[in-house]
Amino acid sequence: MNWRAFLVGAVMLAAGFLASAQPPPKIKRGAPENISAADGPRMFRAYCAVCHGLEGLGNGPAAGALKKQPADLTQLSRKNNGKFPVYRVANVIQGAGETAAHGSREMPIWGTVFRTLGTDTVKLRVDNLTSYIDSIQRQ
Ligand code: HEC
Repeated sequence: MNWRAFLVGAVMLAAGFLASAQPPPKIKRGAPENISAADGPRMFRAYCAVCHGLEGLGNGPAAGALKKQPADLTQLSRKNNGKFPVYRVANVIQGAGETAAHGSREMPIWGTVFRTLGTDTVKLRVDNLTSYIDSIQRQ
């Protein structure tokens, strides 16, 4: 399945989930919504919450449709001896260093997605999402 179709599909699924009286979700192809690169929390809600949940606990509405459980993003520091793994998180979001050994990844390669919204803001988007995830750590 084309990842972008899946992503937009997942967002539509979320919308359907929140308003279950509506007709079943449709897969819609298109560019992701252009949320301000400066706004980490809003980007998280728009791009990540469908899988990771609004609070980052890994329980978004699309989670059940995935083979792999989306990570609980509030536990990353706790699982890393109390230190937020900033470079690893930024790399996972961006999709840098993806290798065959990592297996088939279900999370979109956000570096590629964000580049479609403007090449000059990719780093800012990744940095601000990483800072936002840092801010939701629960020890
Ligand atoms: C389509 C569902 C989906 C979306 C959307 C998604 N993720 Fe993920 N994410 C996953 C899954 C599933 C994993 C588990 C690891 C894997 O797939 O290899 C994961 C893992 C991660 C990890 C690694 C956590 C760890 O243990 O190191 C980070 C960080 C992360 N996601 C951040 C994000 C951010 C930030 C966004 C939004 C820009 C996002 N994710 C959007 C599904 C998703």
